[in-house]
Amino acid sequence: MDILIRENYDQMSVAAAGIIADLVRSKPNCVLGLATGSTPVGTYQELIRLHKEEKLDFARVKTFNLDEYLGIGIDLSLPYEKDQSYARFMWEELFKHINIKKVNFHVPDGLSSDPFKFCREYEKAIERAGGIDLQLLGIGGDGHLGFNEPGSSLYGPTHVEALTQQTLDDNFELFYQNSGIPREKMPHFAITMGIGTILKAKQNLMIASGKKKAGIVASALEGPITSQITSTALQMHPGKVTVVLDREAGANLKKIDHYQHVEALKARYFSK
Ligand code: PGA
Repeated sequence: MDILIRENYDQMSVAAAGIIADLVRSKPNCVLGLATGSTPVGTYQELIRLHKEEKLDFARVKTFNLDEYLGIGIDLSLPYEKDQSYARFMWEELFKHINIKKVNFHVPDGLSSDPFKFCREYEKAIERAGGIDLQLLGIGGDGHLGFNEPGSSLYGPTHVEALTQQTLDDNFELFYQNSGIPREKMPHFAITMGIGTILKAKQNLMIASGKKKAGIVASALEGPITSQITSTALQMHPGKVTVVLDREAGANLKKIDHYQHVEALKARYFSK
């Protein structure tokens, strides 16, 4: 696992976008796993800048999003502005600004009449696309990746998950901004890629920012592996995991000096 510490949110975002951009340049038909939430917005802004100013080309890129609230989805009967889905969030924050094709991006459909079947099909669609090359991840206040809440299987596939009270509290503000749905109607279930799905991605890229995340980031990266903090499963990823943190989110890590030493060594010996 490579842990990169950057001074602030903007530098974290530029570093994360740089890793994604390197992949898009080296494999123009790559499959990206994407995340919603407040953390990736800066990463998406930098990708948009790279597209506009440096012609980063998304024409052949495919994407799969991590999760969606159950009961929320792309409702084609609604005027576009009233759509409450994470698909709309992705459209506003990234897709409409770049040259990705509409047929190439996928967000779980929380309005599916059979969400359990949908989950199985989503998993198959990822496989048909050739698997995820790079999965972008935030981390929840309770340590979740996607919506894999405490106790969720560390090998599980895409599934329906019940949300914790902490997640409902942490996510309400952004949820309300995106959906306009009041607190009492916030869904208590979501469709989420499982930790197994996330670990199957060839590369995981986790980002976190701010003091509020410092404790959970330290537990996720340096604590014992446990389904009570599903992000600890990143420690078992057999391939490449990169974590980009700003100073505040990395503040509780015990081995910061070592991570910085490793980054400097790798830059010296392995940089392009
Ligand atoms: P945030 O959410 O980026 O809004 O902090 C992260 C998450 O819940 O995965």
